[in-house]
Amino acid sequence: VLDPADWERFRQTAHRALDDAIDYLRDSRERPAWQPVPENVKQRLREPMPQEPAPLESVYREFAEFIFPYASGNTHPRWLGWVQGSGTPSGALADLLAATMNSNAGGRDHAAVYVERQIVRWFRDLFGWPETTSGLLVMGTSAANLVAILVARTKAIGVRVREDGLDQHTSKLVAYASAATHACVRKGIEAAGVGSANLRVLPVDEDHRVEPARIAELIARDRADGFIPFLIVGNAGTVDVGAIDPLGELADLAKREHVWFHVDGAFGAMAYLSERLRPQLRGIERADSIAFDFHKWLHVPYDAGCVVVRDGEIHRATFASEGPYITRMPRGLAAGEPWFTDYGPDLSRAFRALKVWFTIKEHGARRLAHAIEMNCEQARYLASRIESDADFELLSPAVLQIVCFRPRAPLLDDVSLDRIVDEAVIRLQESGVAVISTTTVFGRRAMRASITNHRTTIEDLDLVLESLREIAGGLIAKRLS
Ligand SMILES: Cc1ncc(COP(=O)(O)O)c(C=O)c1O
Repeated sequence: VLDPADWERFRQTAHRALDDAIDYLRDSRERPAWQPVPENVKQRLREPMPQEPAPLESVYREFAEFIFPYASGNTHPRWLGWVQGSGTPSGALADLLAATMNSNAGGRDHAAVYVERQIVRWFRDLFGWPETTSGLLVMGTSAANLVAILVARTKAIGVRVREDGLDQHTSKLVAYASAATHACVRKGIEAAGVGSANLRVLPVDEDHRVEPARIAELIARDRADGFIPFLIVGNAGTVDVGAIDPLGELADLAKREHVWFHVDGAFGAMAYLSERLRPQLRGIERADSIAFDFHKWLHVPYDAGCVVVRDGEIHRATFASEGPYITRMPRGLAAGEPWFTDYGPDLSRAFRALKVWFTIKEHGARRLAHAIEMNCEQARYLASRIESDADFELLSPAVLQIVCFRPRAPLLDDVSLDRIVDEAVIRLQESGVAVISTTTVFGRRAMRASITNHRTTIEDLDLVLESLREIAGGLIAKRLS
């Protein structure tokens, strides 16, 4: 009853949708980088649930008019906010095909499972990891980090924690990460029952990197105090400025201390695809687990994250489950062991791997690496322009693709300038010319451009800087007048 009564009519609407989608991506430069959702649209999207059917054409028309134009905008060449990938046409096509197949990749014996295994193997091989490696696609790095934290917990205190939870002794687990670590690690530590009070947050040095010697000191002190150090989290690209922790030294320390070493490489891990950038990330390949995203620097449409774990057995022991309704069989559809559901919290799982597969097959690792290198060069260009510009001050070097900066206004106090930074970034977004975001760098509000975008050109960056000069210049002049 839910299939079209008239397939030809469905085909027409579907073709129109596909044409519009292709135009949308082809013409992304022509649209505003972002535009706010108008009140009438918000109103419409509060309407109650329809009880009666409507022709697909009219549903599509409503989408085209009220939803399509109000995207967050990250397919636009001048969208440089937070850290978000810019999508690919073939990735979008793959999502249509994956939805068509409607495969559930939780397990069983069908193509989606083999595609996902192939993706995990490609990245296992990239990091030079052994056959024992396991991994799976998840929503994003937040979920990937949580999976890794839970596996590390099993490693430290045994699989019985699944049944017993944390007791008086095991509630003394402690983890170590720098202050520059993404908030999702804290969430993961909380969700794992370890408690964020047991996350030792270390200050960073002037390059925004954690100092392994300080972790070593804390581990010794914690052990003396009866705590159980179980996890060191290193960053391959911190969210604020893109700094890379001394991963090799962290790997040495973790090995010495018999502590799990996890790397959050949400975007930075993908720079490992580039031979030129790989030396900066050395040490990541010695981790016990790595979390990263395809939806960031590989531009696979949202959402697609991944976690790989060197010791697949302990990974499986953390999540494996059974039930009469999911009995594995030697043949038939219920074969295909191991099932992905045994490596993460979900049973039903989308065929996310197809859009990753399409993206990597179409472009090849070398071209994807080239796009990453190009973004790093663009970031260096932007940073050097800012450095030699009397109106701006560079607040963090372009280690990878992130540049933090702010206007110079020697006559203004810090608090006023912080407010101007925030206001200027909002106004830039509202102008539709470009999107950047903000952060705080060593206590000072910063404009932050993350060039995680394969459509950006040098001219785009020039335009962003000139627009900010004009907006911030006007705000500073007004404040001083
Ligand atoms: C370093 C880092 N870790 C984790 C995350 C969270 O990743 P996701 O948004 O895919 O959950 C991000 C997001 O920007 C990040 O930059």
